[in-house]
Amino acid sequence: MAEQAYSKPYVFLICLALTIFAGCKEKCAQPQTVLKLGHTLDIAHPVHKAMVYMAERVNEKSAGRMKVEIYPSEQLGTEKECIEALQLGYLAMTKTSSAPMEGFVPQMKIFGIPYLFRDSEHCWKILKGPIGKELLLAGQSKGLRGLCYYDAGARSFYAKKEINSPADLKGLKVRVQNSVMSMSMVKAMSGSPTSIPFGELYTALDQGVVDAAENNPPSFYTSRHYEVCKYYSLDEHTMLPDILAISTRVWNSLSPQFQQILQEAVDESVEYQRKIWIEAEKNDLKSVQDAGVTVIYPDKEPFRKSVKSVWDEFEGTDIGELIKRIQEVQ
Ligand code: GCU
Repeated sequence: MAEQAYSKPYVFLICLALTIFAGCKEKCAQPQTVLKLGHTLDIAHPVHKAMVYMAERVNEKSAGRMKVEIYPSEQLGTEKECIEALQLGYLAMTKTSSAPMEGFVPQMKIFGIPYLFRDSEHCWKILKGPIGKELLLAGQSKGLRGLCYYDAGARSFYAKKEINSPADLKGLKVRVQNSVMSMSMVKAMSGSPTSIPFGELYTALDQGVVDAAENNPPSFYTSRHYEVCKYYSLDEHTMLPDILAISTRVWNSLSPQFQQILQEAVDESVEYQRKIWIEAEKNDLKSVQDAGVTVIYPDKEPFRKSVKSVWDEFEGTDIGELIKRIQEVQ
């Protein structure tokens, strides 16, 4: 009898300890794999929000065994630096504009052809189709595997003065991304291009290092560049998609199950991003207007004509062939 009286609370305590341990183990489980993801955008940006969604999906699908840690606002370096870090395997993932990718994967120059896509629908038909898939994987041997595209809308000029036609760009110092294509486009339009990292652009505009820049409405708004540039001219010259990429080395080191989980979470985040993007574009355009920005809807034809030389440069080349294939898609 005496023995039993002792053993009951003893068994109870062991059970309690085991339950607490099991619960804690589940909650406090250390992920087996942590993937660091660096990018340039602000946390209020819809593309950042889509990546947060993707990271949550990865966490759920892997029951906490795989984790994506996101570092926004150029904390881990510029887009070019992050791409280089992926090649070396120092950084697992990055979200970059397709513009600086062209320096590593020349086929990506295609996205820098001004007025290439007829509209957003045409652009997404290409991105989701065989050409888009081909381009995502074109950098594999260079250490860069594209996981998806995110919508980055169309890019347009903003400046401290009105831009109604390419002639208004004459003598203007225009910030462009780290991209030869963007340089050629601005030159063809008669502006003076300068490449500056996104994170340094607010100060560069504020201090007059450059007079103008170009981007989509969510980036114009969340970067607060509208505080220094009061004219936004919707000439919509390029539709450069954003790209989420992983280091090929890191990708190859993941188990097939983790690769599948990651790709599924990424694909789901694309659907989510495209939904919130449409709202964000509308709202952010309104927000900059509320903040005193004049939005201009210029005639696009003179802009289109001014960049003919950028198209001509690629006649008879692989990019020229790609242009034809894209134009043929209805
Ligand atoms: C867009 C794009 C960013 C890029 C930025 C830029 O906002 O989403 O990835 O850094 O343009 O102009 O540099």
